[in-house]
Amino acid sequence: MADKIVVLTGAGLSAESGLGTFRDEGGLWAQHRIEDVATPEGFACNPQLVHDFYNARRAQAVTARPNAAHLALAELQARWPGDVVIVTQNVDGLHEAAGGSALHMHGRLAGALCHACDHRWEAPLVMAPDDPCPACATAATRPDVVWFGEMPYHMEEIADHLASASLFASIGTSGQVYPAAGFVQEARIAGAKTIELNLEPTDISRAFAHRRFGPATEVVPAWVAELLAT
Ligand code: OAD
Repeated sequence: MADKIVVLTGAGLSAESGLGTFRDEGGLWAQHRIEDVATPEGFACNPQLVHDFYNARRAQAVTARPNAAHLALAELQARWPGDVVIVTQNVDGLHEAAGGSALHMHGRLAGALCHACDHRWEAPLVMAPDDPCPACATAATRPDVVWFGEMPYHMEEIADHLASASLFASIGTSGQVYPAAGFVQEARIAGAKTIELNLEPTDISRAFAHRRFGPATEVVPAWVAELLAT
């Protein structure tokens, strides 16, 4: 069977599409408190503030276009003879817009979730605390994103993919948020080759056998071209 590649992506992949990262200088977490906008407690305390934050991000995301790195990864998914599983922490839809597919472990800005009945639907551009759920009519709707203190999505499926991966790549993520930051260890235990592609070294760079540093739009297409040439 052909080799399986698992690719983890983070905010750095979409930075050159104009979407801000979290922890770089001037990033989202320099402008907003995580506790206020990205926790269930913050939402319970001030749902309008949380909706405002995600409404602004959704408005930005709908105008963003996939960059050369998203396109290269979609090409890898289309042309590699084995599976290429992209696991993204990003809540934008740029992997899909590039023609690829991804498991959204932190949810999607384009999704809405009713926290009364767990119904899911496509989010309108602007969400508000008193929006009724289309299924149960309760005004308990939230963005379908994963907040701190909540369990990321697709974890069992991701663990299975990591356990059967031959190559694991981490792209544009600072490696500061678990469980994603621990995927490199899971892949290593499974015997996969590991590579980090990022603008600069991260706190977990040394966990990777190989490292390449530079903007995603340069290093990712070059890496994909090498893989497809082998
Ligand atoms: P971070 O903002 O923590 O890290 C972004 C990484 O991308 C940094 O290591 C940058 O050096 C790198 N980077 C910036 N520009 C780049 C470029 N042009 N090319 C390549 N790399 C670049 O974002 P994430 O690691 O994705 O979770 O953050 C992980 C999670 O923390 C997010 O999903 C979010 C956040 O809090 C939740 O909200 C639950």
